[in-house]
Amino acid sequence: MPYTIEQVKALVREFPDFPSEGILFRDIFPIFRHPEAVECLVNHFVDYIKALGKAVDVVVGLDARGFLFGPLIAIKLGVPFAPVRKRGKLPGQVVSVTYMKEYGPDVFEMQADAIESGKNVVIVDDLLATGGSCKAAEDLVAQMNGKVILNAFVISLAGLEGDKKLRAPVYALMEC
Ligand code: PRP
Ligand code: ADE
Repeated sequence: MPYTIEQVKALVREFPDFPSEGILFRDIFPIFRHPEAVECLVNHFVDYIKALGKAVDVVVGLDARGFLFGPLIAIKLGVPFAPVRKRGKLPGQVVSVTYMKEYGPDVFEMQADAIESGKNVVIVDDLLATGGSCKAAEDLVAQMNGKVILNAFVISLAGLEGDKKLRAPVYALMEC
C-alpha cells in the first residue's frame, strides 16, 4: 500500500525520559518497518531537493541515523553518498572537527577525499536539535572546500533554534 507523507509523519513515536530524564525522544525507526513508507519519505526528500533547481554532487549523512536514508536519497539522485562518522571509525586520511554534545565534546570525521573542491553537498540527518552535529558536518564539508546547499531533516525540534547555528538553509519534514 503506498503511503502519503502525512502517514509517514504519523509513524514517528515519542518516548518520554529516554535516554535520560527530561528528554522526549523522537523515534523514526517505525518508518523503517514499512518499505512503502521509506519509499515515500525518500521520494519526498528527492522531490524537494530536485525542486531547488541546483546541481547536487554529493549527499552527506550523519552517523548513525543519517545512514538510514541518506544513501537511498543519493541513489535516487544518482550521486555519491559520503558518511560523517564518529572519531576513529574511518580508515585513511580524515578531516576532523570537535563539537559539543549534551555531555561534553565529541569528534566527527570524514574521509579527506570524500568531496572534491567546489562540489555541491546536501547534508541529511534524522533530527535537528541544538544544531551542533550538523554545524560540525558543515565545517567538515567546508574543510574540503565543498558547498552545502541544503541541510535536510525528518524532524526539527522547535525552540532550540538549531537552524541559527547553520550556514546553509534547513528543510525539515516536521517540526515538533
Ligand atoms: C542525534 C541525532 C542527530 C543529533 C542531533 O544523534 O541523530 O544526529 O543527535 O542533535 P544536535 O542537533 O543537538 O547536534 P546522536 O549524536 O545521538 O547519535 P546517534 O545517531 O548515533 O544516536
Ligand atoms: N537527538 C537529540 N535529541 C533527540 C530527541 N529528542 N529525539 C531523538 N533524537 C535526538
